[in-house]
Amino acid sequence: MSYFFWKWLHIIAIISWMCGVLYLYRLLIYVKEKGPSDAGVHQVLGLMAHRLYKFITVPAMIVAAVAGAMMIVLNPGFLQQSWLQLKLLMVLGLVGLTLWSGHLKEIGRQDANTLPRSKTLRILNEVPTLLMMIIVWLVVTKSIG
Ligand code: HEM
Repeated sequence: MSYFFWKWLHIIAIISWMCGVLYLYRLLIYVKEKGPSDAGVHQVLGLMAHRLYKFITVPAMIVAAVAGAMMIVLNPGFLQQSWLQLKLLMVLGLVGLTLWSGHLKEIGRQDANTLPRSKTLRILNEVPTLLMMIIVWLVVTKSIG
């Protein structure tokens, strides 16, 4: 497969992964705020979060990582470049936040009251956005300063 194919796939998968993780944290805020007072809403939001995580966010994250790894295999010199090393560190943070959103959505499905405070979830919701902004800056400039 050509380098451009993997880059194309990487970008599409990244878009899906980011949509998934950003919306998941938003859904968790709704679960926390609206879930305890309305069982029907709680169930629908829980199901939405579950399907978004299982069928879009995690598969897209895996495809993005495989496509990214393939570009490195085809161009191993990238690994010596500090922008990529820093990017991979940020990516680890994004993977962690994605897996954590999966854990939180399970907690929220069982009992919305046991989720972290709404304010904490709102702050958490901003972290993937911030990491994404830094990562895209790194890949665009290919420099760390
Ligand atoms: C999952 C692990 C990841 C790996 C191993 C990886 C690796 C790579 C590599 C090697 C390139 C090629 C750079 C080039 O040819 O110029 C690339 C491009 C890119 N990556 Fe990633 N990446 C990963 C995750 C991410 C994430 C999480 C984002 C955004 C949030 C991202 C955004 C991009 C973008 C926008 C490009 C295209 C850059 C360009 O064409 O100038 N990547 N990635």
